[in-house]
Amino acid sequence: MVRHALDRRYEVVGVCRERSVAKLDAYKGRIRVVPGATDDREVIRTAVAGCDGVLTVLVPWGVRRYATGTAQAVLDHARPGARLVFSCGWHITRDGKDVYPWRLRWFVKVFGWLARLARVADLDDQVEACRRVFASDTLWTVVRGSDLEEGESQGLPRWSRHVGDPVLASNLTRRVDFALFMVAALTDGKLVREAPAIVGCKSPSALRAGPAAGAP
Ligand SMILES: NC(=O)c1ccc[n+]([C@@H]2O[C@H](COP(=O)([O-])OP(=O)(O)OC[C@H]3O[C@@H](n4cnc5c(N)ncnc54)[C@H](OP(=O)(O)O)[C@@H]3O)[C@@H](O)[C@H]2O)c1
Repeated sequence: MVRHALDRRYEVVGVCRERSVAKLDAYKGRIRVVPGATDDREVIRTAVAGCDGVLTVLVPWGVRRYATGTAQAVLDHARPGARLVFSCGWHITRDGKDVYPWRLRWFVKVFGWLARLARVADLDDQVEACRRVFASDTLWTVVRGSDLEEGESQGLPRWSRHVGDPVLASNLTRRVDFALFMVAALTDGKLVREAPAIVGCKSPSALRAGPAAGAP
């Protein structure tokens, strides 16, 4: 995400936990890093000051409502009119009209239950975080990622308003392209107050669907 933003000549401020700062060493001198938890309101207030856009990764890790605290801090402290782009998974639904493959429903049920039991993650935390984003009057986009794979960029992912659209059937996106989509969303007015579910543009289902027509 940092690389895509720098490629576009954006001035970048990054927030990550103290223990993770070293992962950004490759960008030393080119970005400003504010170390801290993303649900720390003071950290976010400092980091987003003056920013025209905020890219936020919402993760369900832990059972302390990290994602909800993160989303709320960004919603409260980003400047009015800033573009806010959040990440989550397909399992988040905005209007209940998504039609999920049984494997995903099964995974959410079983992983969600086990993860909460082991106090490793709380999927409901991500649900609540997104509910607050959807209810806000900010210029938000919630990018809903498919399963991810590593590898070189294939280009901007395809998207649809609803899981169940045949274009998404392959359920696979390169991680680097998930980031590309989030950065591109900053300047794509069509994505304001949308929750696009994405898939790799070279995935079989995207290729079967034919060229993108612009709208989902
Ligand atoms: N992985 C998938 O297959 C998949 C599929 C669909 C959607 N997504 C979505 O894609 C986004 C990124 O997913 P990912 O799999 O790349 O996430 P990830 O590897 O688990 O981590 C993303 C960030 O979460 C923070 N993090 C990790 N463990 C944490 C903990 N225990 N407490 C607090 N923060 C923690 C880290 O921040 P620091 O920088 O502070 O270390 C890390 O950079 C998420 O929004 C996810 O819902 C992922």
